[in-house]
Parts: sequence; C-alpha cells; structure tokens
Amino acid sequence: MTKPWSPSSWRSCPISQVPDYPDAGVLSGVESTLASYPPLVFAGEARNLRKQLAAVCEGKAFLLQGGDCAESFAEFSADNIRDTFRVLLQMAAVLTYAGGMPVVKVGRIAGQFAKPRSAPTEEIGGRALPSYRGDIINGIEFEDGARVPTPERMLRAYGQSAATLNLLRAFAQGGYADLHNVHRWTLGFISDSPEGERYKALADRITDAIAFMEACGVTPATAPQLRQVDFYTSHEALLLAYEQALTRVDSTTGDWYDTSAHMIWIGDRTRDPDGAHIEFCRGVKNPIGLKCGPSLSADGLLRLIDRLNPDNIPGRLTLICRFGAGKVGDHLPGLIRTVEREGRKVVWSCDPMHGNTVKAGNGYKTRPVDRILREVREFFEVHKAEGTHAGGVHFELTGQNVTECLGGAQAITEGDLSSRYHTHCDPRLNASQALELAFQVAEGIRLERRERAQSDAA
Ligand code: PEP
Ligand code: CO
Repeated sequence: MTKPWSPSSWRSCPISQVPDYPDAGVLSGVESTLASYPPLVFAGEARNLRKQLAAVCEGKAFLLQGGDCAESFAEFSADNIRDTFRVLLQMAAVLTYAGGMPVVKVGRIAGQFAKPRSAPTEEIGGRALPSYRGDIINGIEFEDGARVPTPERMLRAYGQSAATLNLLRAFAQGGYADLHNVHRWTLGFISDSPEGERYKALADRITDAIAFMEACGVTPATAPQLRQVDFYTSHEALLLAYEQALTRVDSTTGDWYDTSAHMIWIGDRTRDPDGAHIEFCRGVKNPIGLKCGPSLSADGLLRLIDRLNPDNIPGRLTLICRFGAGKVGDHLPGLIRTVEREGRKVVWSCDPMHGNTVKAGNGYKTRPVDRILREVREFFEVHKAEGTHAGGVHFELTGQNVTECLGGAQAITEGDLSSRYHTHCDPRLNASQALELAFQVAEGIRLERRERAQSDAA
C-alpha cells in the first residue's frame, strides 16, 4: 500500500541535493510568504499541455523543450527573454514546416533556477566553499558570504519568474508570435550565417503558404493559431521547499497542481524511487519529466513509472533520455522494449546535452556540437528500429551570441570559448547552433513520417 500523499509528504523521505539553510526560522517564514502569493500558472493550462503531450505520445506531435541551463538574476532582461523565445519560435517553425508535425513548445524558463551539483563543495586554490546551487539558493561568486544558502532568494526567483512569464504570455498571445512575422524572428548575428540563410529560405516558403491559405479563406480570424502560440514553462523540481509553497488545490477538479510551472521534471541525480523528489512529483497532476541517464535500468524505470503514472495517463510522463553520444544504442532499446511490453504510455524525448559535457584543454566546461548532433541522430535511429515515436528534444540554448559549445557552422574552437562564455552552469547552444540542430531534427521527423506512411500503405 502506498502511503497517502500530501504537498509535504516528501519531507519524511530521504533527500539529496538539498541546501543546508543556516536558519530554519527564516526558511519557514519565506515558505509561508510564498504560499500566500498568487500561482504562476493555472491548472487548466497544465491540463492543456498534458493533452498536447498525449498527442506526442500517440505519434501525432513533437515536443520542443529548451532554454537556459540556469536562469540567473544578473542576466534578467527583456532582451534575453525575447531572444530565447524567438530562437524557440524559429526552431518550432523549422520543425513544424520541415518536419510536418504540430510542435508542443515548452521553455526551460520562468523558474529554471535550482541546480543539482556533483560535489557539495567547490575547491579553488586550496580553498573549499559550498558549491553554487543556482541563484534561487546561493550566489555564484566564490566568496564565503555568497555561497551561504539564503531563503529570501526564493522570493526574488518568484518575482523574476512572474515577470518573465508575463512577458512570455504577451509575446505568445500579443502579436509577436504571429506567423506573418516568421522573417522577423531572425537574430541579427545569425542573419548572414549559413543557418540564417537556410532559415530565410524556409521562412519564404512559409510566407508563401500563408498567402495561399489566406487566398483560400484560412485567415487569422478563422485560424487563431496563425497569430498566436501556446507556450509553456518548465523547470527541474529540485528545490522542494519552493515547489511545495506553490502547490495548490485546483478548485475545479480538487486535484493538486504545482503552479510554479506547467511542467516540472526530476533530474538524473534525484530520481531515487523512494526519495523526496519522486514523492513530491507523484502527487501533483502537472505533466512530469524524468531524466533517464546511463545508470537507469529497465526495472528501475518501470518502478518509477509505477510511482509517477500509475493510471497510465498519456502525456503525464515524458522520459528525457540523456545517455551521451555513442551510448544511446546501449541503453535506449532495452528501456523502449520494456515500456512497450508493459504497455506504458510515455513521451520519449532526447536531451543530447547532459551526456556530452567535456572539459576543454583550457578548463572550460563545453559540449561539442558534433556529439550533440550524433546523440540526436542515434535517438532517431533507435526509435526507427524499434518502431516507436521519437517524440521530442530537450536543449540548453540561448538567443545570445555566446561561445559555449564547440563547433557548429560557426566552427567555434577551444580558443573561442573565452570570448563570450556567459552561462551560470552548463554550456548552451547559441542561436545558430540551435537552428542547425532544428534542421537535423526536422529531417529525422520527416524520415519517421515517411517510414510510417509507407508501412501504413503496405
Ligand atoms: C539539467 O537539465 O540541467 C540537468 C542537471 O540535467 P540532468 O539531471 O539530466 O543531469
Ligand atoms: Co544543465
């Protein structure tokens, strides 16, 4: 028998990656304040996302999830939010048009602050301090004071998330995302690059298609999807004190929702089936993501699916696979076969970032675009071989012209990394690298569709 769930039942489970707050009184004061604040998203929106993900489950749509590894207080600006949003819009245009499938758009944004770390302390020059755990917990500066976990940071993260979400809603619904603007989403610094050119050609075709449809009577008045998009938010549900404080009962259904984001996910380091993070997530009705790394066995996965989606609701659970280039074939087929054999409904998504982090000769944490492309290719190949739907991708990216990942059409080298390396945590794709990936993913979707059409006709 499973024990009853409550928003605080995680507190009696073993927990990892939890900050050591020096003053429990201050912490609980902040939790009460947050609990009195308005929700950031509505339960109905999370349900709509769940339904759209159910279409992904059935092979009828594709999930695009992306954004910063870690949002930061320092890089909080309208331009940054707009630039991330427009790269995602561009990628979605490529995937929808070239891949020929509806794209469910989910940002790693408006709440993606807390970071799991591989070590509790960081050592520089013989001096050890607590690791940086994301701006919602402590400061990135390598100084005593900065690294102390500070509860008030949660209030600032809430405020930043609310303002970010407000702008995203305006962009998504207020005209910016109108497909007639497909040419204007190009960021200045990529307009002359090969990816920029390729995008321009695709945008021309979309513009022609819109003109054709309008001539046939399909206008924004009859098809509002032409002038607005559904855009959802997501982050890792790592800092459970924050997540609990934003968890509310939905008055229309009586169900619990974590109103900090539409979708939340569980990291590869915190997916202990008996641990606090799984306990918290099993009770909220939001769509849930589960990171699946190389140490996850097929039995372990089934156990987690039992916990997180006992009623086998399509769209409830997205498995975000992150094995590393060259390792997908070792891990993914076994997981897919088990899930298929047991008839479990899941979305399969590919995170080609977290299994491909390397240290450059000059000490920078980086990711070679080649390896990222390779993992995506392997993901599509395995699904093709298994006859299952490669349902989505999960990227760390930014609209800024950063030099954090190696290679790509701009051929960023180790020597270039120091030029514009701004991430607060893991290295992100820049806009041009992200577009390059979108074209490759679109090709994968197209091949899958063709294959399916052929087998349907046979
Ligand atoms: C992340 O998505 O930023 C992350 C830490 O991923 P993972 O849990 O897969 O390592
Ligand atoms: Co990351």
